[in-house]
Amino acid sequence: MSLTVIVLAAGQGVRMNSELPKVMHTLAGWPMVRFAVDAARALEPDNLILVVGYRADLVRTAAGEGIAFVTQEEQLGTGHAVQQAEIASGQAGTVLVLYGDTPLIRPETLRKVVGYHEDVGAAVTVLTSRPSDPTGYGRIVRDPDTAAVLAIVEERDTTPEQKAIGEVSSGIFCFRDSWLWPSLAEVPKSPGGEYYLTSLVTIARAQGELVTAWTVADPLEVIGLDQRVKLAQGEAEMRRRINTGWMTAGVTLVHPETTYIDASVEIGSDTTIWPNTYLQGQTHIGQGCTIGPGSVIRDSSIGDGCRVELSVVEQAIMEEDSDIGPFGHLRRGAHLGKGAHMGNFGEVKNSYLGPGAKMGHVSYLGDATVAAGANIGAGTITCNYDGEHKHPTVIGKQAFIGSGTMLVAPVEIGDGATTGAGSVVTRDVPKGSVAYGVPARVRPAPDDEEEAEVG
Ligand code: UD1
Ligand code: MG
Repeated sequence: MSLTVIVLAAGQGVRMNSELPKVMHTLAGWPMVRFAVDAARALEPDNLILVVGYRADLVRTAAGEGIAFVTQEEQLGTGHAVQQAEIASGQAGTVLVLYGDTPLIRPETLRKVVGYHEDVGAAVTVLTSRPSDPTGYGRIVRDPDTAAVLAIVEERDTTPEQKAIGEVSSGIFCFRDSWLWPSLAEVPKSPGGEYYLTSLVTIARAQGELVTAWTVADPLEVIGLDQRVKLAQGEAEMRRRINTGWMTAGVTLVHPETTYIDASVEIGSDTTIWPNTYLQGQTHIGQGCTIGPGSVIRDSSIGDGCRVELSVVEQAIMEEDSDIGPFGHLRRGAHLGKGAHMGNFGEVKNSYLGPGAKMGHVSYLGDATVAAGANIGAGTITCNYDGEHKHPTVIGKQAFIGSGTMLVAPVEIGDGATTGAGSVVTRDVPKGSVAYGVPARVRPAPDDEEEAEVG
């Protein structure tokens, strides 16, 4: 049997009070629609369609490869949205409909509900749940004697008795393909001018078709993240799942509740992550690292055996056994070679520190290349910017840069060369030589030259 999955993501999501479409709000660093689409993708459907509408271009970018897009120009309800995706009328198969605002759904659950739907041969199967608070969801009305599903009633249309029903519609449905498309045309317009997908239950019943329900054990899987309080609940659940996944895979999280790992991050086994740590974006962390406490690593690659303590690492590379912190900042293009050490209060931008190079205290390197084994003394600064352009600094192998050296770029320090404490280096220092002295002089201010000369 063929399987078509349609993910609805055309709505604006007014309850978010946002410029951003609802489905673009993120969980663990990814727009929520991405999780819904990935769950659908995991089923390897024959057709995968995303219905977009409000800010369609933005939503398309979040969906990734291998998916067809259909635009619902005017958002006239969930039934109308599915209608836009009509591609396979008359086909022997199943159409599974998911909502982009229900990103916690697990592929295993979808597989089970599709399997159940096909086994019983229903026209419609709705995935239901029993959340602690059913407010806002469509209620499942069952026959009191047979428990057959009779209708789904939207919150705004419920009677007081129906409002008290604890079983709700997740919005996830399986339909018999050949039945769905002609029946969608029969969906009536609601008083509010929308075509509800949920009306198909009533239509199927009236035709004597089989309507079934499949109830998910964990109601969190199908919460609709319609407003920001629920978004925060979804975020907490997604992060809990991600953290559990990494702990199962051999990563120690000392305090999972304060460890924030984006869905896109990868971590090697036997790495330990201390509290208040944020691993974000395209970040890869190797094996046997110690990360945190109190660190942010974003879009960076960290090799095996590295240590990052109370530091911020962005768009940077740390090779194996290198370390940073406490209180270091690696910025865009920073690259620490194998075993390089960057200690207290350092900042490195667009620079390479070679294997075993050391920069222990309070220094800034920008646009610099530091060869293996060089030592950067406390308070060294590359003066890389002249107000208009950035210039490079090159430091040779085993060079020794004295404390407080100002390296006025462009400048090159040769292999094994030394600079004295407080030197202001404005010219290249040849290999093996020593640059020293502090040429601090007073230049008189232009309008009291005379007095200055006397002094
Ligand atoms: C919907 C269901 C409700 C169910 C709940 C589960 C209907 C009428 N109601 O209500 O029974 O309990 O989900 O979370 O189906 N969308 C479109 N085009 C539209 C309208 C919506 O693509 O014209 C998309 C939205 O982007 C969203 C999804 O469909 O991803 C659901 O729409 P939403 O407005 O959130 O419906 P609910 O009020 O949550
Ligand atoms: Mg919703």
